[in-house]
Amino acid sequence: MLLLLRVWGAVDTVHIKMLSHITPVGVGPTPPTCTLPSPAPPRDQIRRLRPSTPSPPPSPLLSSPLPRIHGRRQQAATRRSSRLSPRSAASLPRLPVGGRMKVTVVSRSGREVVKGGIDLKDSAKVADLQEAIHARTKKYYPSRQRLTLPLQPGKGGKPVVLSPKASLLEYCEKGSGSLTVVFKDLGPQVYYSTLFFFEYLGPLIIYPMFYYLPVYKYFGHEGERAMHPVQTYAMYYWCFHYFKRIMETFFVHRFSHATSPLSNVFRNCAYYWTFGAYIAYYCNHPLYTPVSDLQMKIGFGFGVVCQVANFYCHILLRNLRSPSGSGGYQIPRGFLFNIVTCANYTTEIYQWVGFNIATQTVAGYVFLVVAAGIMTNWALGKHSRLKKLFDGKDGRPKYPRRWVILPPFL
Ligand SMILES: NC(=O)c1ccc[n+]([C@@H]2O[C@H](COP(=O)([O-])OP(=O)(O)OC[C@H]3O[C@@H](n4cnc5c(N)ncnc54)[C@H](OP(=O)(O)O)[C@@H]3O)[C@@H](O)[C@H]2O)c1
Repeated sequence: MLLLLRVWGAVDTVHIKMLSHITPVGVGPTPPTCTLPSPAPPRDQIRRLRPSTPSPPPSPLLSSPLPRIHGRRQQAATRRSSRLSPRSAASLPRLPVGGRMKVTVVSRSGREVVKGGIDLKDSAKVADLQEAIHARTKKYYPSRQRLTLPLQPGKGGKPVVLSPKASLLEYCEKGSGSLTVVFKDLGPQVYYSTLFFFEYLGPLIIYPMFYYLPVYKYFGHEGERAMHPVQTYAMYYWCFHYFKRIMETFFVHRFSHATSPLSNVFRNCAYYWTFGAYIAYYCNHPLYTPVSDLQMKIGFGFGVVCQVANFYCHILLRNLRSPSGSGGYQIPRGFLFNIVTCANYTTEIYQWVGFNIATQTVAGYVFLVVAAGIMTNWALGKHSRLKKLFDGKDGRPKYPRRWVILPPFL
């Protein structure tokens, strides 16, 4: 009897590995066209299924053995539940025979992007499909591609985006071993680090130009300028901030996406460069009136503390990921993250508050309001994503109660 149970356990384990080859494990959308159970059945349910097709090689996705079953009563229950009904057998996904699959790549208008489709191994991942599309089209390298499943006729909603790391079989159509994907060209891409470098480089260069160069003569102010100490400190503060951001981009942040559309470079540069010039113009103006010495010290002192805190927040975020950027999204913990989800944005906003207390320009406050608005919008998105990811169900931790960005208001 013991021997029989051991053999049964071994068969089940092999089959679970086979199923895990075609069943998404972990968080991920299940496409409507796919016949796989959604969400992935619990392990004890998978145990009931017997292999009806030759097993593909075991997946590395599920390598841990099943928990041992203890106790006679529990073993008997498992034996009873292991009898598969014809109905549940019919609902099993059938794997394509021959180990190949055909992928048809169409544009959103339905035009075939790769003539004749692409033939791939059934063990291929979405990333392999992207490489194959690149090889056939030459123009569309993987990061330029957005692949989705076709929307079901009559059904609205957002299309399912194919994850590069996922297996293609996760998205396959019922038993056919074929798949149709919708291709969208995202346009030329640049590395995130390149995008951030150029958007921060502008303010880093533009601000000192207003401080050092005789630019105001082009605005009708001839003659020598007497610079107040606050203007000099403001220039150092500003440059330190953007220099820090560039350094963090290259040496601290671990981005989840390697690239961003090239068009974002122009949009982001327009934002940062324009605001940089706008604030620099007023802070270095010949008619600038300084605030009191005490106010300047309080403003810059508070701002510097917030910049250091912001840097520490970025270090804490960095430690949530491996050096390759993998690890997805985690619950940020420690320091201010224990009370606010986007503590890095909180400290960023407060350091601009400090700068404005010290310099007191309308331009500076306009930038503060716009930047705070943008970051609040992003923070709301990040907060709800973390709450969704960590919902406290199926063994996932529950996201703790926290402010979003600006305690005690939001
Ligand atoms: N003045 C302004 O207008 C303005 C606007 C925005 C930002 N900023 C400044 O620029 C800094 C960077 O901005 P950002 O929007 O890139 O910051 P961010 O997305 O909040 O975080 C920076 C890095 O941490 C990662 N990360 C964030 N939350 C994570 C989590 N829960 N688990 C694992 N990794 C996580 C991000 O990954 P992903 O790559 O996946 O996002 C990113 O690589 C801000 O902190 C702020 O100081 C200023």
